[in-house]
Amino acid sequence: MFDKVKDILAEIQSANPGTAEEIEQFRIKYLGSKNILKPLMGEIRNIPNEQKKEYGQLVNQTKQTAEKKLADLQAAQSNAAAASEAQNLDLTASGEPIALGSRHPISITMDRIIDIFSRIGFTVAEDREIEDDWHNFSAMNTPEDHPARDMQDTFYLKDSTSMLLRTHTSSVQARVMTHKKPPIRIIAPGRVYRNETISARAHCQFHQVEGLYVDENVSFADLKQTLLYFAQEMYGPNTKIRLRPSYFPFTEPSAEMDVSCFICDAKGCNVCKYTGWVEVLGCGMVDPKVLENCGIDSQKYTGFAFGMGIERQAMLRYRINDIRLLFENDVRFLKQFTSAL
Ligand code: DAH
Repeated sequence: MFDKVKDILAEIQSANPGTAEEIEQFRIKYLGSKNILKPLMGEIRNIPNEQKKEYGQLVNQTKQTAEKKLADLQAAQSNAAAASEAQNLDLTASGEPIALGSRHPISITMDRIIDIFSRIGFTVAEDREIEDDWHNFSAMNTPEDHPARDMQDTFYLKDSTSMLLRTHTSSVQARVMTHKKPPIRIIAPGRVYRNETISARAHCQFHQVEGLYVDENVSFADLKQTLLYFAQEMYGPNTKIRLRPSYFPFTEPSAEMDVSCFICDAKGCNVCKYTGWVEVLGCGMVDPKVLENCGIDSQKYTGFAFGMGIERQAMLRYRINDIRLLFENDVRFLKQFTSAL
């Protein structure tokens, strides 16, 4: 019996099936459900006890040799098939066109703003959209009875009076100032939420970019110069800025910045309502109380901050007259920005 198995082993080792048909015959003969090794295994009962182990091992080894050979043959065959397919490829055929996507006008505008500020040393700080009351309001010196806290403006999380969807990116100021020591120079882009009735001019979600600079001796003049640089990079080198006194709880003094209308070159159009000026952002010197709330010594440090809405900038630049278009993702609308800068 030993010799018979050994003959089969040798036969397997020297077999050289080439075609798919021959390989299949090989498989059926040595590994199929009625393969020739099966009855040989059955013969084990007629083998003397002291040789049973050796005999079993020999049959197993034969079977494994067949399995390995089959796997090798099949692999070689599929390689050959792939190679011949490759030979049939027409390398001169024109490729399938790849549909080019386009960036969303909000992303384009946001990236532009980030790029402008990163050139003067501002780094991007991103933080959570689900905030607590403290970072969104209290730390930012917004008193308990401030109307912005009203349930009508703020989306609170279900069954919560303290967790909310941030209403402005100013919350990131508090996040950064409680973790980092001055000098701090960041911009914080991101999505914000307010419980507004959706219309052509307002949405319950939109985007803002916040800016914050805290260090020793930061002055209002620094704020003005930084914003002038921004305005001229963003809207053109001849852009003028104008700061109007305003009020925000987190800055003192506070201002709103207008830029000379970049649509009509300040000659007067319906975008600037024939005033020659367009309002673009809120800003001011960080209120010392905000610094103290966040653990920064307001005797030693001062800072400025600003915040602007992105949708407004994108709508002005691209003359989009309905904010809802920015959230509907209608490709007919988005396609128009394929080459926009
Ligand atoms: N958080 C303000 C808003 O949502 C915008 C703002 C105004 C941010 C003045 C500031 C600032 O940092 O100094 O309307």
